[in-house]
Amino acid sequence: MINWLHSKWHRPEKGWDPVDPAWALEYAEAEWRMVDHALLDTLEAKLGGLAGKRVLDMGAGAGQYSVALAQRGADVTWHDISRTYRTFAQAKAADAGVTLHWSLGYLEETQALPAASFDLIFNRICWYYCQNDQAFARQLWGLLKPAGVLYIHTPNSQFHGEGMPTLARLRTWLNAQTGFKVGHPMLPPRRVANLFAALPISRLEADYRDPRNDVIWVWKVGGESHTSS
Ligand SMILES: C[S@@+](CC[C@H](N)C(=O)[O-])C[C@H]1O[C@@H](n2cnc3c(N)ncnc32)[C@H](O)[C@@H]1O
Repeated sequence: MINWLHSKWHRPEKGWDPVDPAWALEYAEAEWRMVDHALLDTLEAKLGGLAGKRVLDMGAGAGQYSVALAQRGADVTWHDISRTYRTFAQAKAADAGVTLHWSLGYLEETQALPAASFDLIFNRICWYYCQNDQAFARQLWGLLKPAGVLYIHTPNSQFHGEGMPTLARLRTWLNAQTGFKVGHPMLPPRRVANLFAALPISRLEADYRDPRNDVIWVWKVGGESHTSS
């Protein structure tokens, strides 16, 4: 509720941007140097190719994965709240000679995107900015085509270890106990997978090798899913 009210008062289309421009530039340049091509290969294998696939990069930031996916032939929509990152990503897309679709808004604000239309939704290091975990899982599921694939990489509440300030610790505890969010607490480990396990899916893979990060793959039910890994 608090985050929802905040989102009504702070509008990206009116110039509000939660990301500090100096930090955005530093983060963007570092992330562009660290694109994980092995992950892109895995995505490509799990989808049976990226060429012609409709991809939503949800919380796309500096656009390094949007551009990389487009370079592999996908039809990519960049969605994020930050105009600073959009400007950066647009320049990178132009440099790379790829055309992306641009969608500015909160994670929840995908009403302009067609339902059940994406072959792949890519959600990296921004899940915790959503206002309600359960509603966000349903929203992503609704945007996927039948047999579409969802990739989520999210740091969890173990991420900051013992170093978390008291207030953040309290918010994290409140979220873990009740699901209620004040600000952007990181989720309890394994919550994301549990949310999707309750939805109509045909398959779920979870990678918990790093206890501070949940890496989840979800296949929406329907159609023929590609199963190579
Ligand atoms: C850590 S960055 C990750 C960006 C990108 N996914 C990546 O892998 O580099 C977090 C992203 O979430 C975006 N963000 C933060 N709050 C948001 C919100 N409420 N709705 C949409 N995007 C948000 C930021 O603008 C930023 O691009």
